[in-house]
Amino acid sequence: MSRLAARFSTPLYVYSAATIRDRFRAFDAAFGDLPHTICYSIKANSSLSILRLLSKLGAGFDVVSGGELERVRRVHRHALANVVFSGVGKTAAEIDAALRARILLFNVESESELALLTSRAARLKKTARIALRVNPHVPAETHPYISTGLREHKFGIPIEDAPALYARAAREKFLQVAGVSVHIGSQITSLEPFALTVERLAELVRTLRSNGHRIIYVDAGGGLGIAYKAEDCGQQAVSAGEVSKEADSRAYGAVDDFRSYAGAVQRPLRGLNVHLILEPGRVLLGPAGVLLTRVLYLKRNGDKRFVVLDAGMNDLIRPALYNAYHEIVPAKLPAGDQRSTSADLFDIVGPVCETGDFFARDRRLPQVAEGDLLAVLDAGAYGMSLASNYNSRPRPAEVLVDGARSSLVRRRETAADLVRCERT
Ligand code: LLP
Repeated sequence: MSRLAARFSTPLYVYSAATIRDRFRAFDAAFGDLPHTICYSIKANSSLSILRLLSKLGAGFDVVSGGELERVRRVHRHALANVVFSGVGKTAAEIDAALRARILLFNVESESELALLTSRAARLKKTARIALRVNPHVPAETHPYISTGLREHKFGIPIEDAPALYARAAREKFLQVAGVSVHIGSQITSLEPFALTVERLAELVRTLRSNGHRIIYVDAGGGLGIAYKAEDCGQQAVSAGEVSKEADSRAYGAVDDFRSYAGAVQRPLRGLNVHLILEPGRVLLGPAGVLLTRVLYLKRNGDKRFVVLDAGMNDLIRPALYNAYHEIVPAKLPAGDQRSTSADLFDIVGPVCETGDFFARDRRLPQVAEGDLLAVLDAGAYGMSLASNYNSRPRPAEVLVDGARSSLVRRRETAADLVRCERT
């Protein structure tokens, strides 16, 4: 890690290709022989190199914008055939692009969107395979900002309204009713909500089939959570050592049990003879990445002690936005350096001019010194993809480690990049 930091500077996102491969394969294997497609949810980490890696492993993609669709096109033209398109605000231009790309499935989220898709498909004379994304009214225990499966959320079509809309869609020449779809939220660490949701979907499939629809696909969405806290993995936070190895060993903790998840999703579908689509994001990428950052300053305000990092909320916004927990560990201590954990509690903060710019509050840390390298763990998902230029800070570089090779897959932004789109 210190070599990577010296070579590419900090803040730096570092991803482990081996971890991504292992997690994808384990997730895939958990679904066994049941026909299924894993449509990786691009929003978790949209790096082209990572998309390429996943595509080579056989992944399809879940996109929510024209921009994400364009990323898939750049990975491989053929990858477009395994794209599902979700989102409550698809524009006509985005719909047209997806129609032309002949994607696998449109997950339609409202009556108005269905009307627009109908007219765009007719205009372009391209058939759209559709699923309605239904809202199953299932509560999922997670942060309220990322829970999506309740009546009061903007997502999906109330499940009880779906049959009437399917009937309407079936009459359209350029629409092909092909599936049902759902996504109830993210960072969900209990399996019950998934099981309950798919039970409701299975019921819907039976109703729709008895109404004469040919339902092939059941898209169960994403949302499976990971263990961000070391104690949830049954392990102590590491104090030193190689972070990517640590990420590997954290891969299969209690909530990372892919088989139980697969069981919960598959059980209600038994005998239905459907093709399952899954849209995992975080669970594949989260533990595969760290944010490497250097300690700029140690400071004290009265009794309060701060560690000021060179990474800020613009680089990783999860703690600021969701009060999310990330383990933070020294990336590498010099050989033989056995520092004890300090008795003091630190706020670990960034340089951005907001009190919300923190990575951890009241956290115990092994003793740190100015200039030390720290790794913010489990930052592979919703890290770089939510990064911004707030405070006119260039976004960090990204490195993909694959065995002995480390490739810079995105260079660090420069001051010139920051003003590239502006006119004076
Ligand atoms: N499918 C749809 C339609 C989604 O909206 C999402 C995530 C996923 C799949 C993938 O969910 P996952 O498997 O990654 O949980 N920024 C937040 C997470 C927002 C999730 C949005 N939708 C965070 O950092 O926790």
